[in-house]
Amino acid sequence: MARERLDKMLAGRGAGTRREAAARIRAGLVTVNGAPCRDPACKVDPDSDQICVDGIALRTRRERYFMMNKPAGVISATEDAKQQTVLSLLPEAERCGLAPVGRLDKDTVGLMLLTDDGALNHALTSPRRHVDKQYRALVSGHLDAEAPARFAAGLKLADGTVCRPAGLTIGECREDGLTEVLVTLQEGRYHQVKRMIAAVGGHVEVLERLSMGPLRLDGKLARGQYRALTEDEISELFRAVSGPE
Ligand code: URA
Repeated sequence: MARERLDKMLAGRGAGTRREAAARIRAGLVTVNGAPCRDPACKVDPDSDQICVDGIALRTRRERYFMMNKPAGVISATEDAKQQTVLSLLPEAERCGLAPVGRLDKDTVGLMLLTDDGALNHALTSPRRHVDKQYRALVSGHLDAEAPARFAAGLKLADGTVCRPAGLTIGECREDGLTEVLVTLQEGRYHQVKRMIAAVGGHVEVLERLSMGPLRLDGKLARGQYRALTEDEISELFRAVSGPE
C-alpha cells in the first residue's frame, strides 16, 4: 500500500474535510502508532500504521459497515442456539466478525447497523456520546397530555429509573385506535421506549427504529434486507462520534 499524506488520508475516512483534518492533526488529536503527530504532511500507511483520531482507531479498508432493515422475530445477537439472529439473515461468508450496534427487541423492526469495527460500535452505543436514536411507535391506550414535557424533563420509570431528557411527538389517533408517536432517545436502556410509553399511560404495539445519529433507515430496504453503507454514511457516522466523550 502506498504511503499517503496524513491529512489527505484522514479526510477520506471520516475526519471531515482536508482542512478540518489538518486542524485536528495540528491540535494534537491524531496519533500515529501511539504518538501524537502534528504534521499534516506526514506520510503514513493506513494498512500498517495504527492511526487514532480523538482516541478512536481509524477505519481501515478491511472493516465493514451494513445497514439492515430488521424484521420482527429475529434477535439482535451474533449467534444463538435456538433463535434466528440478525446475522443469520446474511450469507455465511459475509458474517465473520460482524456484530449488531446496540440492541433491538425481538419484535422491534427497522434500522440495525452491523459492523466489525468495535471502536465505532462502542462509540455509537456509549451513553456518554449522546447519539440520538429515533423510533416510530404505534401506541394503544391514552397518553398523558403532559407526556412530551415529562419526556423532555427526564421521565421517571415505574422502577424509579430516571431517564435522560428525550423527545416525544404525538401524532393523530388513527382509524384503528392506535396513535403514532416519534420518540428520540440518547441512551439505550432495556425496553426503554416501551417502558417510557407505559409510564405515560400507553402501550407500544409496534416499534420501529428510524435512525441512529446521522444514519437513517433506507426506505428502499424491505424488512430483512441489508446493504453496505455508502462512504458518505460512514463518514457522517465517524463525524457524529468524533471529539472527546
Ligand atoms: N426501546 C424498546 O423498548 N425496545 C427496543 O427494541 C428499542 C428501544
